[in-house]
Amino acid sequence: MFFDILTLFPGMFEGAFSDSIIKRAVEKQLISINIRNIRDFSHDKKHNSVDDYPYGGDAGMLLRPEPITNSIKESKKSLVGCNPKVVYLTPSGERLNQNIVKSFLGEKSLILLCGRYKGVDQRVIDHYVDREISIGDYVLSGGEVPAMVLLDAITRLIPGVLGNLDSAQEDSFYGGLLSHPQYTRPEYFEDMKVPDVLLSGNHAKIRQWQQRKAMEITQQRRPDLLNEGN
Ligand code: ADE
Repeated sequence: MFFDILTLFPGMFEGAFSDSIIKRAVEKQLISINIRNIRDFSHDKKHNSVDDYPYGGDAGMLLRPEPITNSIKESKKSLVGCNPKVVYLTPSGERLNQNIVKSFLGEKSLILLCGRYKGVDQRVIDHYVDREISIGDYVLSGGEVPAMVLLDAITRLIPGVLGNLDSAQEDSFYGGLLSHPQYTRPEYFEDMKVPDVLLSGNHAKIRQWQQRKAMEITQQRRPDLLNEGN
């Protein structure tokens, strides 16, 4: 999958993708990531400005439409044939969950638009954005961290990205439940013992215990998941 990220702060992505699973996915050519600086597409060649005051007198600044639409057009040109969807990361978007992450898996390419300031001009959203995504009910300084979150969550589901050792099938949310507790060696740690069932070698019993624990934890912490059928 091709990811094209449109941002005013390209430097924020340098460390984020240079290690671990994302780095390996890029090396294996399972994904590719291109970062574009929205400021390079400013209509104002003298000062490279990208923001302006909102009509109606609200406080704060908005991203002007021209630099964003110019960068989207350039990005689409480079992804011709891939029919990229434009995803705008904004606290006003649909709240991300594992089902939404899975719904992106059929795409060949995504353009991730990172907002800043008070957001972007509504005409850009109406005519250029396919989907608006929020990563939770809190406000961050911009869409860069949410873009990293979305890219990471999608990438780990792309076949071949995870080895068997870190398979996604046992992640929290994969089966709609939070994950059961996990233990590793040593068997005794500061007087606390690994639950006997996990040492029993009885796989049916172990599976039963894991499912019961996953259900208990989900019931306690996220009862909404049991009702949603997520
Ligand atoms: N930009 C600022 N806060 C955000 C959030 N919670 N989700 C997505 N984009 C954002």
